[in-house]
Amino acid sequence: MAAPAVLLTGGAGYIGSHTAVALADAGYCPVLLDNFCNADRRVVGRLHELLGSDGFAWHDGDAREARTLCALLRRYRIAAVIHFAALKAVGESVAQPLRYFENNGNCLVALLQALAAEGGGSPAPLVYSSSATVYGDPDRVPIPESAPLRPTNPYAWTKVLGEQLVLAQRAAQTAWRAVILRYFNPVGAHPSGRIGEDPQGIPNNLMPFVQQVAVGRRAHLTVFGSDWPTPDGTGVRDYLHVMDLAEGHVRAVDYLRAGGVSDIVNLGTGRGHSVLQLLGAFGSVCGRELAYRIGPRRAGDIAVCYADPSRARSVLGWEARRDLRQMCEDAWRWQRSNPNGYSDA
Ligand code: NAD
Ligand code: UFG
Repeated sequence: MAAPAVLLTGGAGYIGSHTAVALADAGYCPVLLDNFCNADRRVVGRLHELLGSDGFAWHDGDAREARTLCALLRRYRIAAVIHFAALKAVGESVAQPLRYFENNGNCLVALLQALAAEGGGSPAPLVYSSSATVYGDPDRVPIPESAPLRPTNPYAWTKVLGEQLVLAQRAAQTAWRAVILRYFNPVGAHPSGRIGEDPQGIPNNLMPFVQQVAVGRRAHLTVFGSDWPTPDGTGVRDYLHVMDLAEGHVRAVDYLRAGGVSDIVNLGTGRGHSVLQLLGAFGSVCGRELAYRIGPRRAGDIAVCYADPSRARSVLGWEARRDLRQMCEDAWRWQRSNPNGYSDA
């Protein structure tokens, strides 16, 4: 029997490419749709190496086009969809809010239209990529799914509105089911070192910046504030290995295919690490101390953010298995063997 096909919009991106590998490992056939606006085409060659040419399919196309989505749903008899396609840079979303609402909003509208048009009585279930950013500055940690939503930038608003759209469509189409996943801070890479995170330009996020300091592309890390109300004064986040996150998506697809009801689930480890802890862990993995300077706080940052992951355990039977050291080891293997990311492919 042919492997059930799962459509991954934005499947050539950081989380999508790792999820493709986890899905293939679990016996699914991932079908990737990406317009490569924030991904390197060479990731496809790397996936060929890891999965073989029969192990996945890919299409260069825009997820804002319902026609394209309908054609893929039909052609591959898609059993479930994971919707990753989105623009994700917080600072850029503040400078270009229309671009963010247009792209992230229209991708999801087109997908929901395609699912409704092609699904007959039972449209393929959906896993929607949301983010811990929907919680803004939380009243308390760990953060449960019931915490209030307080988006503080246009990107975060696109995620809140996306969630609302999914919930509204679920209410209108009672036979359809969706799981909304709110991820905390994904880091690391596939243990092969063949795929990983490859941001364009100067990295916005901590781990890719630290990786580039370790490999000599940047002189030092600037730590954004050492006066936060945390044990060492630097910001605390819930770093999560991208392969754990990828396996969380496989669990969500398994759950929906087994008839599970719609839900909203945090994916995080439930543990917080500070900027200096992460820097120290990475330094011990790459065998030298990494240079840093203390700078001012970054606008919009918060002190502490980590998940209450208990719902992921009870609903999806998922919990993160990999620790901070493994996140750093796998990130370092990827960066060391691809100092310039996919440009080295
Ligand atoms: P990414 O930028 O690496 O991947 C997103 C992919 O979507 C890219 O390959 C991009 O080319 C593609 N894309 C964007 N618009 C498209 C369009 N109109 N048509 C086709 N493809 C399009 O980002 P990622 O880190 O892999 O994130 C995946 C999802 O997870 C996003 O929805 C993001 O908002 C969400 N998320 C990411 C993080 C994180 O820290 N990485 C945290 C929480 C949530
Ligand atoms: N940091 C530095 N120096 C840097 C980069 C980051 O000190 O050069 C610090 C930040 O101040 C923060 C921590 O490292 O304390 C983590 O910052 P990231 O930018 O890596 O992650 P954030 O938690 O700020 O945000 C990320 C994504 C959001 C997403 C959120 C939760 O950028 O889009 O994780 O998933 F919503």
